[in-house]
Amino acid sequence: MATDSEHQSRQMMPTNIRVMRPDDLPAVYDIETRAYEFPWSRGIFRECFRAGYPAWVIVEAGQVVGYGILTVAANEAHILNLCIDPDYQYRGLGRCLLDALLFAAEQLGAERVFLEVRKSNRRALRIYLAAGFKPIGIRKRYYRSHDSREDAIVLSMENVSKN
Ligand SMILES: CC(C)(COP(=O)(O)OP(=O)(O)OC[C@H]1O[C@@H](n2cnc3c(N)ncnc32)[C@H](O)[C@@H]1OP(=O)(O)O)[C@@H](O)C(=O)NCCC(=O)NCCS
Repeated sequence: MATDSEHQSRQMMPTNIRVMRPDDLPAVYDIETRAYEFPWSRGIFRECFRAGYPAWVIVEAGQVVGYGILTVAANEAHILNLCIDPDYQYRGLGRCLLDALLFAAEQLGAERVFLEVRKSNRRALRIYLAAGFKPIGIRKRYYRSHDSREDAIVLSMENVSKN
């Protein structure tokens, strides 16, 4: 169950978070390649733009320091990417952006939000569980890894507006 302050944080979009624009792509891609061992290609980001997926950036002192991308179909949202510049992690920005994505998902009509996370990504897993996501399954060998493939944990949040 969310606390009062968590509810308040989802009442509006924070002012340091804005819609991602095509001219953010160089900064976003730079963060992506530094934050992930197996980053998305530029083409995947372009596809997300072409498809019109809702995407947001978080800005500090005029600089893009993180981003999040969603899909919303019917009453379900899927968080496709949530990433904070490694130089700006551990300051609460990841949680802030996650709350903003949940707010956006709810505004776009989603009642349920899904995402996948690598089994080994304990830090991401902790912020998702703290936000109210629940593990609902495993996708075997979902991600690339150095020696073979890595499982994904599938997480879901039901009744987004009430969490
Ligand atoms: C996962 C990710 C988005 C988290 O971003 P972040 O900005 O570091 O997240 P937060 O700062 O909100 O929380 C991280 C930790 O910092 C702590 N923290 C928050 N504010 C803090 C502060 N001011 N001082 C110190 N610690 C703080 C949080 O309590 C949390 O602790 P925990 O790991 O023990 O739970 C980030 O690590 C990332 O981009 N990773 C690479 C991409 C990735 O894996 N994305 C997820 C894909 S599913």
